[in-house]
Amino acid sequence: MKEVTRRVPADEPPPLPENAKLKSIGKPVSRLDGIEKVTGRARYTFDVQLPGMLWGKWVTSPLPHARIKSIDTSAAERAPGVRAVHVLERVLSTAQLRDPKAEKGNRYPTVRYAGQPIAAIAADNPRAAEAAARLIKVEYEPQAHVTGIEEAMKENAPRVFPGPTEQPATAGGGGAPPGLPQKGNVRGPDTKPRGVGPRGDVAQGFRESEVVVEAEYRTQVQTHVPMEPHGIVADWRDEGLTLYASTQYLGSVRDEAAEHFDLPKSKVRVISDFTGGGFGAKYGIGNFGLLAIHLSRKARAPVRMILDRRDEHVSGGHRPNSIQRLKLGAKRDGTLVALQLQAYGSGGVAGGAGVGFAHSTLYDCPNVHVEQYDVFTNTGPCAAFRAPGQVQGMFGLEQAVDELAEKLGMDPLTLREKIDISGTDDCLARAHERRVGAERFGWSKRRPAGSDKGAIKRGMGVAQSQWLYLVHRNAACEVRVMGDGSVEAFSGTQDIGTGTRTILAQVVAEEFGLRPEEVGSHIGDSRYPGGPASGGSRVTSSLTPAARNAAWRCARELATRLAPVLDANADDIVFAGGKVMVKGKASTAMPFREAVKKARFQEISHRAERRDDYEGYMAVTPDMSISRHGIGGVQFAEVEVDTETGIVKVVRMVAVHDCGRPINPKLTESQIFGGVIQGVSYALYEERHLDAASGHQLNANVDQYKIVGSREVPNIEVILLEQLGAQSSTDARGVAEPANVATAAAVANAFYNATGKRIRTLPMTPANVL
Ligand code: MOS
Repeated sequence: MKEVTRRVPADEPPPLPENAKLKSIGKPVSRLDGIEKVTGRARYTFDVQLPGMLWGKWVTSPLPHARIKSIDTSAAERAPGVRAVHVLERVLSTAQLRDPKAEKGNRYPTVRYAGQPIAAIAADNPRAAEAAARLIKVEYEPQAHVTGIEEAMKENAPRVFPGPTEQPATAGGGGAPPGLPQKGNVRGPDTKPRGVGPRGDVAQGFRESEVVVEAEYRTQVQTHVPMEPHGIVADWRDEGLTLYASTQYLGSVRDEAAEHFDLPKSKVRVISDFTGGGFGAKYGIGNFGLLAIHLSRKARAPVRMILDRRDEHVSGGHRPNSIQRLKLGAKRDGTLVALQLQAYGSGGVAGGAGVGFAHSTLYDCPNVHVEQYDVFTNTGPCAAFRAPGQVQGMFGLEQAVDELAEKLGMDPLTLREKIDISGTDDCLARAHERRVGAERFGWSKRRPAGSDKGAIKRGMGVAQSQWLYLVHRNAACEVRVMGDGSVEAFSGTQDIGTGTRTILAQVVAEEFGLRPEEVGSHIGDSRYPGGPASGGSRVTSSLTPAARNAAWRCARELATRLAPVLDANADDIVFAGGKVMVKGKASTAMPFREAVKKARFQEISHRAERRDDYEGYMAVTPDMSISRHGIGGVQFAEVEVDTETGIVKVVRMVAVHDCGRPINPKLTESQIFGGVIQGVSYALYEERHLDAASGHQLNANVDQYKIVGSREVPNIEVILLEQLGAQSSTDARGVAEPANVATAAAVANAFYNATGKRIRTLPMTPANVL
């Protein structure tokens, strides 16, 4: 791969050599906290127990749309064991949303989906809380509701939000800007996904096209199903508020709690030792968090509010569904001439159901017009979900490209070679990934569509993946070297399961010539320097440069302090193999701790931040910037379809992804395994089923909401493409989201190759494929 050159700022360390020359970075170290996790010693929010802690239980609406006339909590308040009752005066559509303005005049928020929280109880034990919750009497004035996307789009459909001012902002991560026009339940169009506007003239483009493919694709609602549901333990004291949170971003929990309760941020502390998954739905305080804080303040005791599985499915967030009408026009030689997309998606009571930005950015095409619409329905709010938008959008786009290749009589890889957006290092990465992946996968053995004559048919497919290289601006880390030789790193970030503590330790250890387990790696406390959000695939690319820069500064100061001890120049002192020595003089080697003790100091500490003030970054929000480089990959799938039963099995996948520098190849690969597995699950099984009459989800539990099981996981081979010089002092980029983007499309293309039949509706259940 071509290396990208970067000017190194004076206060940053020199570029790292390739991983082969390093001792800690780039090694497949097992999670340092792995034993704690698998033995159950790791404390998740679900496990937090505090002296005098009360159990919270919320009450939700059984109706999908209603005005609340009255709420009587008196019986509940008198019930045994009850310590506090609170009625929610406003409802956050998702963690990131503010209450709609029009609710101001009403005493109670309007109910807009079945399962919407209304009030909550704090009691001495869970049984008392549940019993009391049943004693809260709510008088409803039911209103007409609509839960299906197509029904909601009809002219005479019941209105989910009567007026535009009530409609919520974007939550799904689709990127729709505020202030779009709306008609009925439909808001839009957003014609500039991620700020990329239309170009050229599509009508003219289609007139010039020699080959056109046109189809409608549909994707389902997928719920997040993290292992640990959403939850908070709130402890309100006069001296300040402490929140134990299952979260993707400590900072968002602190800031929203401070804002809602009018507290200075310094009075809110958020602790998260471990978070059992999030996938995009775990930001901010949430309705359960608001309720827990209110109850803790009233009861003057810590209150635990953890969603149960039903609530997790219904109100914890989901990936919006979509109806995508897509049209591609090309010349006989494969040159793309026109691309048109009209996409509708529903995120229930939240917006942001766009199907991504790949249509405007992945391929070279002079005429592009994209329209994305939000359709509001009386169902729970969507939330960002692992590469929001791109996963749905690529299912359509990458099948359309496959279809175009077939019409043109071209290999799908050759067509992509031709139409890939040119002149970027992303395009070089994709070309490399296609080559390496095709070789490993055995793409040359792919046969024409529908070659197998029996009932069981095999086929091969490919699809590309694209995501943004995001940076958490000014993500900070502090490194300390104590006088006894211990080294510790601190960052107010969290681990959603990816192994954040481990990579932090690896990067710091490298600068001191230590082993990762010799570095204290501290995260999960908002009192540490503000670290990155675990979202947007940005922890590794944001945290590791800050950590390396801080460690490098400490190591330089340490060398200065050790110079007199070793009778050498600071510049000649090296840290390697757990020892300190003078360059080229092995006889001077001294164990690290021993040497530090001889230097006789109390503590050295430095703090550094993730720099993004050099060329190639664009700040998009106060805490996020986007690099001009992207991240992505190519995935190959082989499927086996039983055409008698309609059962689709993904036999194997090869996933080739770029990652900048893999800080820990084992954890990097693990993210890609996870992305592919979640992608297979989305492609074949997952789907929210609603009862239109009552608005209730019928499969709101893990025994009814089918996700992929271990026997259904294909054989997955991951190949990492290392790119050095990629815009930071560690060269790390993310992989988590792109790993999930191409899978469903690759599987669908393989299905076509097996059967000669296009699958345009997800999931690929027997009902949808036969
Ligand atoms: Mo995410 S959807 O990367 O939080």
